[in-house]
Amino acid sequence: MPTRPLIIDCDPGIDDAIALLLAFASPEFEILGITTVAGNVPLPFTQSNARKICELANRREVRVYAGCPRPMMRVMETAERVHGKTGLQGATLPEPEMPLQPQHGVEFLISTLMQASEPITVATLGPLTNLAIALIQEPGIIPKIQEVVIMGGAASQGNVTASAEFNFYADPHAASVVFTSGLPLTMIGLDVTHTVLTTPERLEQIRAIATPVAHQSANMLATYGTHDVEKFGMPGSPLHDPCVIAYLLQPDLFVGKSLYVAIETQSELTFGKSVVDLWGSHGQPANAQVILQANAAGFYQLLLERLASL
Ligand code: RIB
Ligand code: CA
Repeated sequence: MPTRPLIIDCDPGIDDAIALLLAFASPEFEILGITTVAGNVPLPFTQSNARKICELANRREVRVYAGCPRPMMRVMETAERVHGKTGLQGATLPEPEMPLQPQHGVEFLISTLMQASEPITVATLGPLTNLAIALIQEPGIIPKIQEVVIMGGAASQGNVTASAEFNFYADPHAASVVFTSGLPLTMIGLDVTHTVLTTPERLEQIRAIATPVAHQSANMLATYGTHDVEKFGMPGSPLHDPCVIAYLLQPDLFVGKSLYVAIETQSELTFGKSVVDLWGSHGQPANAQVILQANAAGFYQLLLERLASL
């Protein structure tokens, strides 16, 4: 089976962790490396958490890199309220033994992309700082990228402010660099992820897999969602980042439109908002495939099957 060369940029983070596990369980991917960024929790935690999840999945050969420790311009925002102080609240995982790669994550992105013999897919699960800095430092990576699938933004409401979703709120300038780069982008935002909910029934289906991976996943998910469930009055926690991996595996689970998207970097009120031009009001050419709907039942069937294989 031909494999898709893939780089995952993330800020683990509990939903990032589940996304990594889904990717590790999918032979469709050749995972070239994992780059980490400050986001849900500071970089020392995100890079350590990525390695903990590699070891949980027995994928100690995967190369993990630390990238940018802070956003491009704004003060760092984190989300311990959602993921806990360490970022993997609920998990009981040992300190990682596998090494953190010495190369900076941005340098890894640039060197790997520039040397690639075939285009590489980039999945971004956190703030876009690493990718933005790589694009500024070496625009020559653009033709080397097959596509970028981004968890972030929303055509509707935000989850940090009324306007902005966390990944874009944490680094709006980076998001703007990416959305003005001309790269082939797919944006999977809250419009979708707020319909892909880990209800108590689905959580018990994960726990019933009864493996170490499932046990840790269920324990993380059990604590992860309380913030959003209470804030948005949802019947379950939104499983944001795994939607990116599921989209790469089964795009027919998702429905989107080619639209113009711009990122607000000036306004105090709407800082970080993704302005998704659903009706072409701005007369600008589309710069992203914006996913607007998902088959949540099909997503969870895929997730359960793949988690059970680890
Ligand atoms: O807004 C949700 C996104 O922000 C997810 O990627 C979550 O992990 C956090 O990074
Ligand atoms: Ca994330």
